[in-house]
Amino acid sequence: MSTPPPLLTSMSPGENRRAPRAHVRSDAPRIQLDGSWRFSLAPRADDATDGFEAPGFDDDGWGTIEVPGHWQLQGHGRPAYTNVRYPFPVDPPFVPDENPTGEYRRTFELPGDWPDGDAVLRFLGVDSAFTVWLNGVELGWSTGSRLTAELDVGPHLRAGANVLAVRVHQWSPASYLEDQDMWWLSGLFRSVSVISRPAGSVDDVFVHADYDHTTGTGTLRVDTDVPALLTVPELGLEGVATPGPYVVPAVEPWSAEQPRLYDATLTAGGETITLRIGFRTVVVADGLLTVNGRRILFRGVNRHEWNPDRGRAVTAQDMLADVTLMKQHNINAVRTSHYPPHPDFLDLCDEYGLYVIDECDYETHGFLFADWMGNPSDDLRWRPALLDRMRRTVERDKNHPSVIMWSLGNEAGSGQNLPAMSAVAHERDPGRPVHYEGDWESSYVDVYSRMYPTHDEVDEIGRHAEPLTADPELDAHRRGLPFVLCEYGHAMGTGPGGLLEYQELFERYPRCQGGFIWEWIDHGIRQRTADGREFFAYGGDFGEPLHDGNFVADGLLFPDRRPSPGLVEYKAVIAPVRITVERGRVTVANLQDFADTSALRFTWSHEVEGVATQSGELVVPPVPAHGTTTVPLPTPAATAAESWLTVRAVLGQAAAWAPAGHEVAVGQYQVGTGPAWSVTGGTLSRDLFDPHAGLLTRLGGLPVDGPRLDLWRAPTDNDLGMAGTPVAPRWRELGLDRVTHRVVEQRWDADGFTLRTRVAPAATDLGLLATYRWSADGDALVLTVEVVPEGPWTDPIPRLGLRMALPAEISEVEWFGGGPGEAYADSARSAVVGRYRSSVDDLQTPYLRPQENGNRAGVRWAELRGSSGGVRVEGRPTVELTVRRWTSEDLDAAAHPTDLVPRDRVYVNLDLAQTGLGSASCGPGVLPQYELYASPATWTVRLVPLDASERS
Ligand code: GAL
Repeated sequence: MSTPPPLLTSMSPGENRRAPRAHVRSDAPRIQLDGSWRFSLAPRADDATDGFEAPGFDDDGWGTIEVPGHWQLQGHGRPAYTNVRYPFPVDPPFVPDENPTGEYRRTFELPGDWPDGDAVLRFLGVDSAFTVWLNGVELGWSTGSRLTAELDVGPHLRAGANVLAVRVHQWSPASYLEDQDMWWLSGLFRSVSVISRPAGSVDDVFVHADYDHTTGTGTLRVDTDVPALLTVPELGLEGVATPGPYVVPAVEPWSAEQPRLYDATLTAGGETITLRIGFRTVVVADGLLTVNGRRILFRGVNRHEWNPDRGRAVTAQDMLADVTLMKQHNINAVRTSHYPPHPDFLDLCDEYGLYVIDECDYETHGFLFADWMGNPSDDLRWRPALLDRMRRTVERDKNHPSVIMWSLGNEAGSGQNLPAMSAVAHERDPGRPVHYEGDWESSYVDVYSRMYPTHDEVDEIGRHAEPLTADPELDAHRRGLPFVLCEYGHAMGTGPGGLLEYQELFERYPRCQGGFIWEWIDHGIRQRTADGREFFAYGGDFGEPLHDGNFVADGLLFPDRRPSPGLVEYKAVIAPVRITVERGRVTVANLQDFADTSALRFTWSHEVEGVATQSGELVVPPVPAHGTTTVPLPTPAATAAESWLTVRAVLGQAAAWAPAGHEVAVGQYQVGTGPAWSVTGGTLSRDLFDPHAGLLTRLGGLPVDGPRLDLWRAPTDNDLGMAGTPVAPRWRELGLDRVTHRVVEQRWDADGFTLRTRVAPAATDLGLLATYRWSADGDALVLTVEVVPEGPWTDPIPRLGLRMALPAEISEVEWFGGGPGEAYADSARSAVVGRYRSSVDDLQTPYLRPQENGNRAGVRWAELRGSSGGVRVEGRPTVELTVRRWTSEDLDAAAHPTDLVPRDRVYVNLDLAQTGLGSASCGPGVLPQYELYASPATWTVRLVPLDASERS
């Protein structure tokens, strides 16, 4: 057996690489090596091809692969997903002999005018460990999948054809440092290029552009390794010498809200580097994280890079879409979980305005299962590799104004190498605080950070009243630090719930400076069923022996970047202005830290049952940051029908990220409640009811099953929760998914029909007595349901409602109530009372693992129609409405949306309530005020048959 190469046994980060430096745009000659390469995959490292690096090697029999890309997504091997667990034995630094090894070859032509001298071969991302040969000469090897690696190639370049060979191993000792919760995907997944380095040119540049908020002065210092000439036309700097400093009176500062950039160039040795400079100062002072002297509030998300077809080989369009969607949804911050993103993403953050916590490519969470024994964070032998990662992060990204904090990594336990990483960041860049959530005592970080704390804990921390830590000195230090939630609001499946209550805490306590939702996008992989229907795969779908299922699908965006209801809810919760509408006036609170409201236009409308009767523009003088203003609002008299005033803040002019008119925030006020129901009465026909079960069978000409009491919902990922005591298993234990209905009494009298049933699961004395009182109201039927629990009910229940079934031809729904999207008790900030229409199919939210979804809250009435008529349902008080072509049980049983087969019925739930959603898939459960318990309850619905011709 041959000796394994050093990159498969060594804890060192690499050999023969150039020193890390800033990623800049330059006009130096460059050869882009993206595109088609020759490729061969060996199942084991020792099956690698001898001599494949030789220029004359015959690769004609090899396949091809696209670079950038992952080989598992191009037909070689298969993706695999684990969250915390390493998919190989925890036996550091060793990795399995079955170590898929990809061999890449390509030829490139050196242009005739290519300058002599130095050149670098640059890899922006290679997962995981690779060795490089140019024209048969071994240049070196590197690890650090999401970090730039550069090698000197000048002396090895030849006129004409050059042959580049790269051998990439899926596993290496460095894999122990890269246990982020994501798909294991390998290969050259970011660009490869050769860049000329002209003699005397700037190799590395560090722009320091500070802003003094007390004077409005900017101070610019540009450190370069060789003297260079700096030009910043807007600042009147023309070919001035580096480094400065140059003091600029009255500079416009950069912030996420006002991302002012100054274009600059730097020339030396015939090369021109293009820079975009943003003046800003980040300081932790007096217990607050400040930008330009002001406390900021993170309205953030954690972003992994993802494309459902290309994995982490994201495109320029993906990055732009992410930034645009974030801005459109009021997001102002990104934590680059858990590695530095493609460098171009940070250019977009600079330009569009997003604060970035730039995280080092480091996580060792799987050592948890070894009781953290051997954790690299605490093993000095790994220190060079860890410091190398930190340096490469800081050096590559140090010139981005958007990057306001460095993060050492994620979930890498504790140990002496972490403070050493922090020291590297602080020494090289005193201008940015350091973050690491795993430093529970905050001894070597500048902000106190936690993931998934409960609301109560955040409240305590906000009051500086959190429990003492062991060391009083450290305790005092931590108690004086600003607090951020580097992860909260786990966006897996339906939800998250409870975001509004977090936001209230962030607004109440200066110390609580906001947080970052976990996470931005579902990492589903686009696949097709045998019959060609598209779905998004998650863990286990590729036959992995060890996997963590759909825990990889916990984003605010679906994999194809369609916003989920969770994102719409987050947008409403974190809106930068709060609009409070009252009779005769509207109050606008500007919750931004820098910008006034002059970018916004305010409109109002008066809607009667969701139909606008009057509307207009509101004149709101610009409200300064953190200011409030109240302006008069015409308030029409209450009408016979329910009426609302709706005030919207929209963009006055197009921004780079959204067109003029884009909605930023909404406020509503209920002007009139509408009339009480008047029931004219009538004779109820016995024929409408099943004589045995007492259930309605027909409404007008429409066959109907039910309605009858329903307690069950297909458990959401949050119901199945990882954290605390998950509710769904308890629900099943209680039998709420299999209740039976026993008729207690059927009674006909002058008022109509009364059915009493006892609804209960087997094997328990728990039950609900349900009394259904039916009466006629002309053609319509009125049903009052009264529920009385029997027995010791102690747990929250999924829902208390009525389920009925209508013919499958029902295809359209129009309703007056909350909308347009899905809403649940604890995620209803985004629901606006109005009149909406949707097809039945579009009412479904296609979570990657089917579960309860698509609820519309606060529904006053809904009309459900098919080609030959339909039904109008009205609720008193309101009802929660779901309409779907399958049952809750079907949803429960399905693994992917493609498993859901439409039945010959449309199932309609008219619920009094559902329990909230919470965030227990990785965080706290439902807040007490949103839990639904079995308790005496009454609600009324009216069912009106609709002819095919009728429209409201
Ligand atoms: C956190 C972790 C994330 C992700 C999340 C659950 O503990 O930092 O990477 O795994 O949990 O989705």
